[in-house]
Amino acid sequence: MMFDSPTSSVNKPERSSGFLTLGIETSCDETSAAVVREGREILGVRTAPQDHLHETFGGVVPEVASRRHVEVVTRMVEEALSQAEVSLAEIGLVAVTQGPGLIGSLLVGVSAAKGYALACGLPLAAVNHLEGHLLAAFIHQPGQAPVGQPLYPTLGLIASGGHSDLVLMTEPGAYETVGQTRDDAAGEALDKAARLLGLGYPGGPALERAAREGEATAVDFPRPVAPGFDYSFSGLKTALVRHLQAKGPLVSEQMVADVAASYQQAVVDSLVRQLERAARELGARQIVLGGGVSANQVLRGAAEKSAARMGIVAAVPPLGLCTDNAAVIAAAGYQQFRRRGPDPLDFDVFSVLPL
Ligand code: KG4
Ligand code: ZN
Repeated sequence: MMFDSPTSSVNKPERSSGFLTLGIETSCDETSAAVVREGREILGVRTAPQDHLHETFGGVVPEVASRRHVEVVTRMVEEALSQAEVSLAEIGLVAVTQGPGLIGSLLVGVSAAKGYALACGLPLAAVNHLEGHLLAAFIHQPGQAPVGQPLYPTLGLIASGGHSDLVLMTEPGAYETVGQTRDDAAGEALDKAARLLGLGYPGGPALERAAREGEATAVDFPRPVAPGFDYSFSGLKTALVRHLQAKGPLVSEQMVADVAASYQQAVVDSLVRQLERAARELGARQIVLGGGVSANQVLRGAAEKSAARMGIVAAVPPLGLCTDNAAVIAAAGYQQFRRRGPDPLDFDVFSVLPL
């Protein structure tokens, strides 16, 4: 069992005042808890990934995920508090992911959050997971210089296992989804390709590793287009299947690396082309990345170059905050609480939850 912690390599936070939010995230297959000060500074974050439980199935098994969340969620909360060197009595708000996600998984985090709120007499914030991904680039860790604020209008690209969304942010809390995928999400497209290439699970990071040794121009994959600012990745996956059928087995590591690099480049080109087109047409002053796929170095580099072409700023989250984690949920919950106060204790969870 591995627990990763984006704050483990930085200095311990200084104990001082500030509003503390306890965040809890269990929407898919990461069990995560975090303590965040003033909605921006991470004092502690602990995340238990479940990859080892799902890899033999090649994807997340919902019931297995929920059961694991039940086992570890309170431990993650205790460890996040202990890393932050604070007690529950010092927390001012509990923020938890309400959706979108797997219903059984969401219920575990929400039930835990309601339990902590009731036991400690704390207000609750029910958070949209996607808002967390959009704010990841604006959170900092102790000892690091605070990152900038969003420059409105900001255009966000959420590229994850379930989403490829373009979201226009016009002011804090005002979101308009201007584009989304019509079939597979970008992360799903990468995961499926990694499986077809026998690269293991989870696929995105494995494909990126393999692609490092490959030539991105080796295979001429299509750059799928969809109307408006939407995305479509299913045709790209079909092109990969056809390529593999036509070429027969990829007998060398170099051949696999070349296909991986070419495919990854096609996904990145598609993502960034729509992002740039939407940013220009909608007059964005900034583009921001979020979601697991934004950990991809090729995408990060392409987004920076795109922003430079447009003469605007790119906000890219630290690597540890791209994939699912509770720090971004705490940040989003804090801002939401400041805007509209607490949510009632009887809120439900949702597998689909638009911003
Ligand atoms: O945001 P996330 O942790 O969970 C969802 O909300 O879906 O995103 C997970 C997705 C997976 O598809 C995974 O393969 C992809 O993000 N991913 C990556 C990388 N790290 C994670 N894709 C490409 N390159 C990476 N380095
Ligand atoms: Zn996510």
